[in-house]
Amino acid sequence: MTSQKIRQQFLDFFNAKGHLIVPSAPIVLKDDPTLMFSNSGMTQFKDYFLGYKEPKAPRIADTQKCLRVSGKHNDLDDVGRDTYHHTMFEMLGNWSFGDYFKKEAIDYAWELLTEVYKIPKENLYVTIFEGDATENLGRDQDAYNFWKAHIDESRIINGNKKDNFWEMGESGPCGPCSEIHVDLRSEEEKAAVNALELVNNDHPQVVEIWNLVFMEFNRKADGSLEKLPAQHVDTGMGFERLCMALQGKKSNYDTDVFTPLIAKVEEVSGKKYTGVLEDEKDIAIRVLVDHIRAVSFAIADGQLPSNGGAGYVIRRILRRAISYSYRFLGMTEPFLYQLVAVLKNEMGNFFPEMEKQEKLVTEVIREEETSFLKTIEHGLKRIDLIINETLSRNEKTLPGAEVFELYDTYGFPADLSRIIAEEKGLTVDEPGFDEEMTKQKQRSRKSSAQKVHDWVILEEKQEAFVGYDLTETETYITRYRKVENKDGEFYQIVLAKSPFYPEGGGQVGDKGILIPSYTEGFDISNPSLTDVTSCADLIEVLETKKENNLIVSLIKELPKDAGAVFYAKVNTSERKNTQANHSVTHLLHEALREVLGTHVEQKGSNVGPDYLRFDFSHFSKMSEEEIALVEEKVNSKIKENISLEEFRDIPIAEAMEKGAMALFGEKYGDSVRMIQFGTSRELCGGTHVSNTSEIGHFKIQSESSTAAGIRRIEAISGDRSAEYFRNLETQVKQISALLKTKDLTKAVEKLLEENAGLKSEVESYKKEKAKGETANWKNDFTVAGDKKLLVKKVSMDAASVKDIVFQLKKETEDALIVIISDAGEKPMITVGVSQNLERKYHAGNIVKDLAREIQGGGGGNPGFATAGGKDMSGLERAYEKALAL
Ligand code: SER
Repeated sequence: MTSQKIRQQFLDFFNAKGHLIVPSAPIVLKDDPTLMFSNSGMTQFKDYFLGYKEPKAPRIADTQKCLRVSGKHNDLDDVGRDTYHHTMFEMLGNWSFGDYFKKEAIDYAWELLTEVYKIPKENLYVTIFEGDATENLGRDQDAYNFWKAHIDESRIINGNKKDNFWEMGESGPCGPCSEIHVDLRSEEEKAAVNALELVNNDHPQVVEIWNLVFMEFNRKADGSLEKLPAQHVDTGMGFERLCMALQGKKSNYDTDVFTPLIAKVEEVSGKKYTGVLEDEKDIAIRVLVDHIRAVSFAIADGQLPSNGGAGYVIRRILRRAISYSYRFLGMTEPFLYQLVAVLKNEMGNFFPEMEKQEKLVTEVIREEETSFLKTIEHGLKRIDLIINETLSRNEKTLPGAEVFELYDTYGFPADLSRIIAEEKGLTVDEPGFDEEMTKQKQRSRKSSAQKVHDWVILEEKQEAFVGYDLTETETYITRYRKVENKDGEFYQIVLAKSPFYPEGGGQVGDKGILIPSYTEGFDISNPSLTDVTSCADLIEVLETKKENNLIVSLIKELPKDAGAVFYAKVNTSERKNTQANHSVTHLLHEALREVLGTHVEQKGSNVGPDYLRFDFSHFSKMSEEEIALVEEKVNSKIKENISLEEFRDIPIAEAMEKGAMALFGEKYGDSVRMIQFGTSRELCGGTHVSNTSEIGHFKIQSESSTAAGIRRIEAISGDRSAEYFRNLETQVKQISALLKTKDLTKAVEKLLEENAGLKSEVESYKKEKAKGETANWKNDFTVAGDKKLLVKKVSMDAASVKDIVFQLKKETEDALIVIISDAGEKPMITVGVSQNLERKYHAGNIVKDLAREIQGGGGGNPGFATAGGKDMSGLERAYEKALAL
């Protein structure tokens, strides 16, 4: 059965059991501070479990693109070295949100595996949670009883908290789980060792395929467990492992999920994949075909490789692949990018983002390969050096700090250093390496870390964002919590009704104020009558962000009565400029597509009160004409006075039909908001001007490249644009006044011409002068033993001194010349030695010695040397010292 069919059968099975089938969420998470990537199928449903959001349906099923390369679940170092771990993998899952629980979850799983997929029952084993005294949790007797109906008790195994209590991260929804393992060994192997001994023991053919989690708890920030309001089911089945089981293979890499990619690597590299576990070349091929999937899907979902955060994780994965292919397949030219087309052919049907983003993904990977290949050679040389130094010290362990530096500075994968060390019979000092890693994590944590306390909930309430319609409103706090970070202690609050826009979709979050109703002289029913902006009770809203489904505003101190009614007011002058920039971003997007072509797609944006930044896919630098044309188009739209048409909560299908632009990697619900200005239609959650005329004027300030295939425009509008032109005008006026003309171009051209003429005049004058000086200085030589000595203090620039000294050296035998000069602000010493004396006197050494007096350094060859210094007052001492020579 092909992998495509296996996936479809899973979805069909659960659809028939009343589950809504939904698409995979993007692999990269945008508004979850606790997690960078989807690390399991349940990530996108976290809010449903926690009760923050109503589920779309009580039963859902899907396949989710997952990445386990950071945080609690990290498999990166194992990938390639075994046959069943991956960076990116698909997780097939079915969910019940407060609907069915353990019995149905177990019955469905058994039915699908044994009756639809027809896995022989005798090959299946299950585990259940044995309980944990420290958590005060008993054995999962219910799960045991439900399994007993299907499977012999001898094949139901007790598992501890590590294996059978599933948690998404340090905090969040969790619960006991029950895993299904499959034994894929041959009959002889089965007879030799009982599978019961191999379950959960890292045996490549006795593997877990499905995990059924019974979500009952929420792990709080303080580490305690809290019972969730309802009981849920979250299951996750490893798609690639299921394919291995159903296709009768012994390795995930032998299934059709990977074989087309492997075939391409074989074709391009000329190396054959033999499937051997320890073979370096085979490890490398497994690494490549695994990593290319992770990197490609992340890029297609909008996460470009970069130097920080999620982008850095992606860059590291790609670099690990490049290093392996360079070292073990001898691939010194970029070639991984060629695998993207294969991936698209295999997966584009089911994952349209791969189809649509193929060109961009290919270009980005090619560019990353090109630049990393330039430095990898360096990394390999460096590890050889570290190895040789270790050997020369008669040691067998490479210093952890040095291996870490290589990893950290050159992006050279640590596991590759280990392999190379092993080849020479050496090991890496792992504790030393870990220590450096910990230190570095602490360093970065220090700058970004914050300690977040648990929420204090005043009222369980779904909050409402009212900021599309109102910038001020009466409201109250429904929950708050303390956060501590490097800047001090703050409080985060959630309001029952919030007019504050939470940072998102590229737009900055709102700032503003909260006026407590208990403020003296403040009548909340008539807020505009009182000016309270400077009263002591006023609370400043410093920023507003979204966390999962909550709108969280940051304040410095908790109000003295947190339960009071407040009047919330957005800082409207910032908001106005921000929304001018946001609306003009939409017009810019449309204009770029008209001028450059429809391959232009938004790849990121940052819209604030002062400027806007817009990243988009395009493969070459924009010409001046193109930039001018785009500006012109945007400005003419602004002048057309187009009114905003806002469609709130319309079905996504309707919006797409109307021609709305959607962004890849964004998670859209079933109902969306569409923002329309004439022909520009975008799915967007931001705030906007009500008429394009409010934007004022649009001005592009720069166009540059941020990554392969991605261009960036920085621009201004509204008040900032007016300021920009005002400043420009002032400057022009000032220059005009200085030059006493209105024709600046002509005047500056004239100035430049004059300047060039003067420069060359000065040069020839200096040369003349130097010639004259040479003759004069010649008379100053004194004979001292075997040499003619000239020690002189002058006030002359370095180039002239050099000219004269060279001239003198050429014309005079036996000469030793020391010139002490204060060229401009810098003390300077120049030493020249005639060629015939060079064996006796070394100009470089003499200059070094004298330079100490002027706190300087320098050097040169035996015949000529100079040194600059910092201490003018030392010139006299240097002169005396030179005379004493
Ligand atoms: N969340 C569980 C897991 O990832 C089941 O989906 O294993």
